[in-house]
Amino acid sequence: MKEKENSEKNQIDDFSALVKPYCNEKEQKLFQDSLSKKAFTSLLLNEKVFSKKELLDTYPDLKEDESDSLLFRYDKEEERLGKSLLHFGGAFYLLDPSSAAISYYLAPLVKKNPLVMDLCAAPGGKSIAFSFRRPDSLIVANDISYSRAVEITKNTDRLGLSNILSLAVDPLNLNLNEMFDLIILDAPCSGSGMVRKDCKMKDDWSIEKVNRLLPIQEGLLEKAYSLVKNGGLIAYSTCSFSVDEDENQIKAFLKKHKDLEVVPIKASKDILKGVNNLGYHLIPGVYQGEGIYFIFLRKTLGGCYEDSEIKYRTLSPLKGYQVFFYRKNEYLVPKMYGELSKLPFIAPGIKIHDDSPHPKCEFDYAYSKVNASLPLYELDEKEAKDYALGNEVVTHSAIKDGLLILTYKGLRLGFGKKVGLRIKNYLPKGLRATLI
Ligand SMILES: C[S@@+](CC[C@H](N)C(=O)[O-])C[C@H]1O[C@@H](n2cnc3c(N)ncnc32)[C@H](O)[C@@H]1O
Repeated sequence: MKEKENSEKNQIDDFSALVKPYCNEKEQKLFQDSLSKKAFTSLLLNEKVFSKKELLDTYPDLKEDESDSLLFRYDKEEERLGKSLLHFGGAFYLLDPSSAAISYYLAPLVKKNPLVMDLCAAPGGKSIAFSFRRPDSLIVANDISYSRAVEITKNTDRLGLSNILSLAVDPLNLNLNEMFDLIILDAPCSGSGMVRKDCKMKDDWSIEKVNRLLPIQEGLLEKAYSLVKNGGLIAYSTCSFSVDEDENQIKAFLKKHKDLEVVPIKASKDILKGVNNLGYHLIPGVYQGEGIYFIFLRKTLGGCYEDSEIKYRTLSPLKGYQVFFYRKNEYLVPKMYGELSKLPFIAPGIKIHDDSPHPKCEFDYAYSKVNASLPLYELDEKEAKDYALGNEVVTHSAIKDGLLILTYKGLRLGFGKKVGLRIKNYLPKGLRATLI
């Protein structure tokens, strides 16, 4: 046994042994060759606030994906894009193309106005990608780690997404049985699929790590089963090449729950089927992205959640939003369910008021993304970069003095207050950035 473990640990030098169960020889060779190449990088367009045309006018070198109209791959520009004004203004989210593929296949399978629980959501990639594709959804994006879950809020505030409610609890303590139409379970895993993205992965990988995570994944799958309602879906994924964390985990889960059905997808040719047709693998070299496994399961029996009465609700001045009162503040959210309202959220939607002791601005930064009553003031590139740094903007505009929302190419950057020829900078200190 010890010998077997050691040999598996050694084989991990090139990870090829792990992909053997679902790759033919040619695919294995493509995978092996890919290991000396760099990881693919891509962005997902927030088309609600920025157009594809403007994106391509700004970055003509972006490569459009053949089927996913929101996905654009790019080379060597990660630094530039992550520090760009468009990123700062919320025009896109940076992610690995394989992560984007999961929501691309998942989005059409889910009913209208779905209530979604993302159990392991930080920093928010899967939730955000799903929200872009299905703006009619309400998504609780949870992570067991508070500090990681705060990153979800930072991202959703920047992107202006009111339908993602961030939360940090141990998923095993969630008692909202059969309430959700979709459970996203992007499980903690050994991470071998991300070896090109993060070279630490190679040293970090061991069969012990895989074995330590198996019961955690199993527990989370059981939780997903209890949270999903009849007819709802569980989307399980890992960034691991190990059959134990992928197909074998699902095989055991299906054995326990006969009311679960595997939902097939019309996968493109570069996506490989899992062992015994259980799910799909995206393999670097074969697919233009990093290593990911995913499978969709539908619950076909069991109870059915009825909407309980919404506890706190008033009509918002903004079309399509409700105001939800929570911890002495107000949040804009498309819908809130009675039972959900009891969760200890970090942010249940878009925060309206700045509740710090001596706020410069009465409103929270997040509210600048959706406020419909204040005037917008467009900045040029230099002014926008200056604003991002925290500087005042000089103006000769005849616009009335008072609170404004500053924009760049129409993207909302944050609040400012015009006083004569100056626009005071109301961007929170923690968000100030040097952009290139
Ligand atoms: C693969 S990452 C999630 C990535 C995220 N879904 C995305 O697309 O941006 C797995 C997450 O699981 C969380 N996690 C670790 N152990 C956990 C546990 N025992 N229960 C729930 N979540 C856990 C980690 O904090 C981590 O953020």
